Amino acid sequence: MNFAGMNVENDLLLRAARGEKMERYPVWLMRQAGRILPEYRAVRNSLSGFKELVETPELAAEVTIQPVDILGVDAAIIFSDILVVPEAMGLPYEMVEKKGPWFENTIRSEEQLKGIETDFNIEDRLGYVTEAIRITNRELNGRVPLIGFAGAPWTIFCYMTEGQGSKTFSESRKILYTNPTLAHELLNRITDVTIRYLKAQIQAGAHLIQVFDSWAGILGKEQYSEFGLKYLKRIADAIQEVPVTLFSKGAYASLNDIAALDCNTVGLDWNMSITEVRKAIGENRTIQGNLDPCSLYASHSDVERATNNLLDSFVSRRHIVNLGHGVYPDVDPEKVKTFIKTVKCYEIQY
Ligand code: CP3
Repeated sequence: MNFAGMNVENDLLLRAARGEKMERYPVWLMRQAGRILPEYRAVRNSLSGFKELVETPELAAEVTIQPVDILGVDAAIIFSDILVVPEAMGLPYEMVEKKGPWFENTIRSEEQLKGIETDFNIEDRLGYVTEAIRITNRELNGRVPLIGFAGAPWTIFCYMTEGQGSKTFSESRKILYTNPTLAHELLNRITDVTIRYLKAQIQAGAHLIQVFDSWAGILGKEQYSEFGLKYLKRIADAIQEVPVTLFSKGAYASLNDIAALDCNTVGLDWNMSITEVRKAIGENRTIQGNLDPCSLYASHSDVERATNNLLDSFVSRRHIVNLGHGVYPDVDPEKVKTFIKTVKCYEIQY
């Protein structure tokens, strides 16, 4: 049975993405799986590390469903990481405790690019993700939609060239100036694999796809257009089966260009004004976001007030409520519940 075709009981997220009528706004949180829940840490601590969890479909499914049961979000997002794609292409990563991702090898020359593969079978190398999607849908039994995801080519390029996290990604950006041909060749290969990977997720049962361009904001407008948007466009054009959300963090100057791509939803970080963005992009795209993740450190009544202020700033129904970036690991889950409850109680005025 193809779960993507199966009816979802709570389909608010999908209706919001398609611009259909809904009785209230859907709400979920980026990075809701893992990070904040003690129930997640219990599963995670019983294993050798993050990667074992990602690569064990039954457990990945379990932590994917935890926020649905515990927090009451309107969607699940499959527990995985954007870095499984470079690994499948031949560049393995480690997740170093308290430090983040680390790649032993990087791609900074034509010679190194030779080892990067694109034509492998997705099920062979990333079958643990599609299997986790199938198990999750079986266990969710249609309660809420399941979001599949991938990193945008530019963001994956950043990790493959820098080899680790960075504030500036200057090694990655250096290549755009010194060897743009190499950059385009690598971006093209990442895009080819990402499209096939997302289609495999949809085939396995993902109801909506989100593409995370976490490092969009470190490029100027011209460079983002050449090295970022060009490849996002290929993905948006290729994925027609389910709604697509594009989240280009910090890409203020390119918002109109992002909204012009063939996507349903544009994700916003908390620096952007919903009112201004709505004016700029018009009514035929859904906006996702954008409460400051830090606002969840405030008191319960302040969380409620901040959430209501955000909702009051909407002037149409085409919204999916979320934070402006992933939830921070030390946020009290009770504050997250207050955020979610406030959205669920809010009456749409128009
Ligand atoms: O959203 C979800 O809940 C689903 C799971 C998910 C993870 N990573 C699990 C994870 C998703 C959607 C991601 C996306 C991801 N991964 C992005 C894009 C979104 C963003 O935050 O900008 C990026 C840039 C990565 C790369 C990555 N993975 C980094 C930089 C780190 C280390 C720091 C951090 O964010 O925790 C990770 C590790 C990671 N990915 C963890 C989780 C739950 C923490 C690891 C642990 O449990 O020890």
